[in-house]
Amino acid sequence: MSRIPLIAGNWKMHKTVAEAESLVRDLVPRVEGLEKVEVAVCPPATALHVVGQALAGSVVELGAQDVFWAEQGAFTGMISPVMLKELGCKYAIVGHSERRGRFGKPDESLGEAARVFGDTDASVNLKVKAALGHELIPIMCVGEMLAERDEGRTDAVVTRQIEVGLEGVSAEQAAGMVIAYEPVWAIGTGRACGAEEANRVIGLIRKTIRGKFCEEVGDRIRIQYGGSVTDKNAHELLSQPELDGALVGGASLEVCRFALIVQAASVIAKEVSK
Ligand code: PGA
Repeated sequence: MSRIPLIAGNWKMHKTVAEAESLVRDLVPRVEGLEKVEVAVCPPATALHVVGQALAGSVVELGAQDVFWAEQGAFTGMISPVMLKELGCKYAIVGHSERRGRFGKPDESLGEAARVFGDTDASVNLKVKAALGHELIPIMCVGEMLAERDEGRTDAVVTRQIEVGLEGVSAEQAAGMVIAYEPVWAIGTGRACGAEEANRVIGLIRKTIRGKFCEEVGDRIRIQYGGSVTDKNAHELLSQPELDGALVGGASLEVCRFALIVQAASVIAKEVSK
């Protein structure tokens, strides 16, 4: 079964509306016509509308960086799945490690991405279900922190995040979802996970999903790798058989580097399908 890889750019809190529009106008012609790869960009909420308009009719899809679980109500600062759908979003990142963890000031001594917005496995699950309920495809992020890896708990942590995050999700819904394996220590640090280890953990995630649902869901669900993916390491990472694309942070802010990653994914997917 061949899955089309998804290369998604997570812009985080970067780009004004004008900068965002100019980036995608530059990006579209560079990735148009590339086969066997899907491309998405996830700009900050302030730029979703303009970027959506600039992408209309193009091959590049629109995604949001987070979604709240309620449709509307007294939830200051939150954005509902209905609102994202209206803006033309196809995807919504859910449970990114920068949104998980405790509230408050990040502990800079950890040398890891900030985990400051308090998302838990349970709130991630509510967001996943809300997105699916409004025909948004969640890109659900999972991944262990450095201390958890050092204690040998990587597999247990990732398995728990998958089990709880997908609670109450139907097999059909799960099959259409995207999971991103993003070890927290690899995000924004320039220290990507080794390709073989990324492949191993993603294989474990697929096995967990096969066990939770069935063989077919495991075959169909797309599982990306994320964490310091660049145009330099993309080929090695994306050549791993379990990886169905990448969630790219820093390198997605530079159009040339991002387009090179998309091209690498396309070349590899075409080779595999021969
Ligand atoms: P990075 O971020 O590519 O800058 O490490 C990845 C992510 O946070 O999704």
